[in-house]
Amino acid sequence: MFKINLNFLKPGMILAKTINGSDGQVLLNAGVILKESYIEKLRQIGISSLYIDTKETSDIVIEDVICEQNRFEAKNIIRETMKDVYMGRSIQTKEVFEAVSNILDDLLGNKDIMLNLSDIKAVDDYTFAHSVNVCVLSLITGITMGYNRDKLEKLGIGAVLHDIGKIAIPPDILNKPGKLTDIEYKIIQEHPRLGYDIVKEHATISSLSAMVILTHHERHDGKGYPLGKKGKEIFEFSRIVAVADVYDALTSDRVYKKKVLPHEAIEYLRAMGDLQFDSEIVNNFAAHVAPYPVGTIVKLSTGVQGIVVAVDKNHLNKPKVRCFWNKQGDQYLNEAEVNLVNLPSITISEVLEKLE
Ligand SMILES: [Fe+2]
Repeated sequence: MFKINLNFLKPGMILAKTINGSDGQVLLNAGVILKESYIEKLRQIGISSLYIDTKETSDIVIEDVICEQNRFEAKNIIRETMKDVYMGRSIQTKEVFEAVSNILDDLLGNKDIMLNLSDIKAVDDYTFAHSVNVCVLSLITGITMGYNRDKLEKLGIGAVLHDIGKIAIPPDILNKPGKLTDIEYKIIQEHPRLGYDIVKEHATISSLSAMVILTHHERHDGKGYPLGKKGKEIFEFSRIVAVADVYDALTSDRVYKKKVLPHEAIEYLRAMGDLQFDSEIVNNFAAHVAPYPVGTIVKLSTGVQGIVVAVDKNHLNKPKVRCFWNKQGDQYLNEAEVNLVNLPSITISEVLEKLE
């Protein structure tokens, strides 16, 4: 399978990964042959790219770092949690703990954690999918930093609930397509404190997790909110969650912005290391995130194009690429795989949205 921009989808192409709607319902199952009406529906729900299968790429398997079921269930639990908070009910903390524990089991059982799969999110589904992704990305970073299980669980709870306070922010401000006014921005900046006030009423949620919710928008240079803390004054869990939060937000489509590619998001985080983030944490994070994930269409410095088929954890910028040339009609001929690790003079020059 490989990833393609929605604009280049054609009826007859085969969907490689199931697409869920905002309530978790299946919209399109993996294996379905796409029709014009399906493509239009995907456009309406704000999906900009997805995975498809072709004869030439059906053997390329993209593994998520956690199992599909655990990701799906975690999203549902966050959706329910937000509903509970909105209705003024208590959070079902046992269920949230279980979801985080399952994610952690998957990650700890995974020897070479490498983030290759981007979760395809519908715009409406963003908050829940984002919460789970921030949890996964934060835990990967925590594992790299040698955290024990107890610390990882507390980090994971804080990460998955980091934006719980947004439930108290009016949705028209939260999802405003244009630029926010100063007053609107001030209202959004209330969400860490609102979230903190909600979770601190739950005795089973650790104060360490609650601190993540309060301080995930603090920034290294002191220009974050709500406390304006600087550098190492900022709680370490929150420095981790800040990196995960920004990475996932950048690589997701929102109502008000188009997403950026993984390698661009990593470049941004590195450029902002020690301005906005803790650069050591950015390095730990980036060590497990493929800048050119499996399934990405790339152009090499030689001009040849191909699809990434494998990523070496020690050489993230030098994946193995299946090259295609001599296009005849819809067929790509003369495919060959090159391992860029063995070809120091060849680099990736561009990420393409379709095979040209
Ligand atoms: Fe936030």
